[in-house]
This record gives sequence, C-alpha cells and structure tokens, in this order.
Amino acid sequence: MPRLESPIRNSRKVFTPLRLASLALLTFLLYSFLRHQHPAEPASGAQIHHDGHGFASPASHGDRLHRRIVAVADLHGDLSHARSVLQMAKLIDNQGKWSGSEHDVLVSTGDLVDRGDDTIALYHLFDELRKEAGPDRVKNCLGNHEVMNALGDWRYVTPGDVESFGGVAARRRAMSIEGWIGQAWLANYSVSHTIDLLPEQGIQALKAAGKLRNDYVTPQANFVHGGIHPKAAFAGLSRINAVGHSLLSKALSLEKPTGRLPPTATEEEQQAWAELGPFWYRGYAYEDEVEACKLADEARKRLGPGVDYLVMGHTPHLDGFVHRCDPPSIHLIDTGISKAYGGEQSALVFETSLEPQDGHWSEHRRLIALYRGRRPKTVYRVSREI
Ligand SMILES: *[C@@H]1O[C@H](CO)[C@@H](O)[C@H](O)[C@H]1NC(C)=O
Repeated sequence: MPRLESPIRNSRKVFTPLRLASLALLTFLLYSFLRHQHPAEPASGAQIHHDGHGFASPASHGDRLHRRIVAVADLHGDLSHARSVLQMAKLIDNQGKWSGSEHDVLVSTGDLVDRGDDTIALYHLFDELRKEAGPDRVKNCLGNHEVMNALGDWRYVTPGDVESFGGVAARRRAMSIEGWIGQAWLANYSVSHTIDLLPEQGIQALKAAGKLRNDYVTPQANFVHGGIHPKAAFAGLSRINAVGHSLLSKALSLEKPTGRLPPTATEEEQQAWAELGPFWYRGYAYEDEVEACKLADEARKRLGPGVDYLVMGHTPHLDGFVHRCDPPSIHLIDTGISKAYGGEQSALVFETSLEPQDGHWSEHRRLIALYRGRRPKTVYRVSREI
C-alpha cells in the first residue's frame, strides 16, 4: 500500500454528492478567507520584473512612462511661422495658448531674433508658454544671434524690428542687463540643454520600488544652437552654460556695445564665442560622415552616459532635417522656418515610452519629422527589452 495514498481512493462510499458539494463549499470559503489574509501572488506570466538582485515586484500598466519632446530650430523674427509650427505640433491652440499635455516638452535651439520683425512677440510667446506650461516643459537655448544682439552686432536686425521697440535706444535698453529681454535670457535661456527622453522622477520611482533594474540609464538628447565640439563637451554641460552666461552678462552690461567681445572676456569666454564654440560650431553639418560621427560619439560620451542624440540648429538645410550616423546620433533641424529663408516649417519630435510587457519592460523610441502640409514622417524607430 503506498504511504501517501489519498483518502478518497479508499472511501468512495463516504463521498456522496451532497457531501461532495458541502466539501466544495467549505474549501471555497477557506480559500476565500486565506486569499483575503494573503493577497494572491501574481500568476506566472504576469508583469514581473526581476532586477537581478533576487527580488521582484509586479509592474502594472499604470507604471507606463511616456514623454514627447518637440524641438524647433531657428525662428528668426517670424511669429506667424513659429505659431504655425507649434500648432502643427499640438503645443498651442488657435489663441496661441499652451495646449500641450503633461507629457510634452518644447525646446527651442535658439535664434529667435534677427532677419524678421517679430522679436518682441517671439520672446513674449516663449515667456507666456513657460508660464502656462511650467519651466520644465519649455526650454530655450541661446543662439549666436541672441549673443550678437547683446554684443551690439546688429547687422541682421530689420528696420521693422527696431521700429517695433520704438527706436534703437529702446531696443538696446530691452537687450541690456536690466532690460526685459536681457533678464529673460539670463533667467530662462541656456547655451545648451540635456533633456531626459523619459521623466526621470518616474524612472527613479520605479527603481526605488524594485520594479526597474537599477542600471537602466534614462535616454537623453542634448540640444544646442551650433554644436558641442568634444573639446567643449569635455568641460561638461554646466561649465558650458556658466561660461555662456558670464559672456552674455558682460555683453549685456556694455556701455557702448561695439559688436565685438568685451575686452574683459576671459580665455574660456573667447573660446565659447569662437568657431568651435557651441554658438557657432558647424562641424556636425560639414564634416564628412566618418569624422562627424566620430566627433559626435566623443561629445556624447563626455556629455553623459544617457546622451544618445545631439540636436542642433544654426546651419540651414531648407529641404528638411538631416539625420546622420547609424543609429542617428546627429540631428540638424534648422530648415529655415522663417519667411526670411522660406524653408520648411518643421519640428522634430522624440516620442519615448517605457511599458511593462510580458514580464519585462519594453522601451520604445520614435523620432518623427513634422513638416507643415505633409504627413508626419517616422525617421527612426527602435524598441528594446529592458
Ligand atoms: C522666467 O520664466 C518664468 C516662468 O517660468 C517667469 O515667471 C519669469 O518671469 C521669467 N524670468 C524673466 C526674467 O523673464
């Protein structure tokens, strides 16, 4: 006789249908009671992530993270084209008010000023959007034309623009250290922004809850007007921005701006304003593919482990964006939006999500080119398991 024999086998007659039914009911009640005491573990196949340290927590669909970053390049004094681009990207409504969602971030790579008459309106627009959306959702870079105006290099200023300020002196006042544009530049404009493609707070929360592996690196894109040469990247982003601001505030403080760098400019400030500096550098547009991609790899590495993409304006390609290297790490997005150029009205969109899927995380990245009057074009798409 087997030792672990089930009693059922020996006692067929004891289990009448009525008794079986009562037993089933009892079993069910007992099960319900225990289940209430100890909530069920997720069944196999449920969304669990193992973090490699031997513990796991269930991830639910509510854990999905998502962000959409919309980048626009040189707007050069053209309010109507700027609004048309932001409307196309669903960031503003017909009234010009912010209509983006909590997942959206707008970034401008600078050069709002010059070549057109709408300087005042464009700086007001970004000020308003920053107030409506919050400073984390609207990011502005300083272009070479912002700094040129601060320095008094007004070669690209239109007569209509000067008139809109009420004359040369009033325009200069607005673009001085005490003026509203000078103040806005110093408070809310940076040389460069590195922006997380997914909300970092959400990523940290998932890691803290043991739902996401700790070594997951949040993907990022760096935005700048001209380009960050590896030599500049070596100093790090905060140094680049600090030097840019010290240069800018010296320029804004000039009694008699001459268009040239102030004599008090340091060696670092002079380099920032030189050909290889972030306001002017065009190597990512003009170097051949091998060299440009090599420079981009070096610069990205120095800017941070998450920086997969370098996005810049400054060098116009009127037919559309230029995406270089494989995977595409360089994105040249100045398409001459302003009437002064008559190029494509464009925005580059980074759509990124991290979602639980069959017991792991799926990260999806999609780059979309928006051009006025054309259908959105996916220029790059990649998914990976985390
Ligand atoms: C900077 O932007 C914030 C809105 O985020 C605004 O309240 C503030 O006035 C701006 N600063 C300047 C000097 O324009």
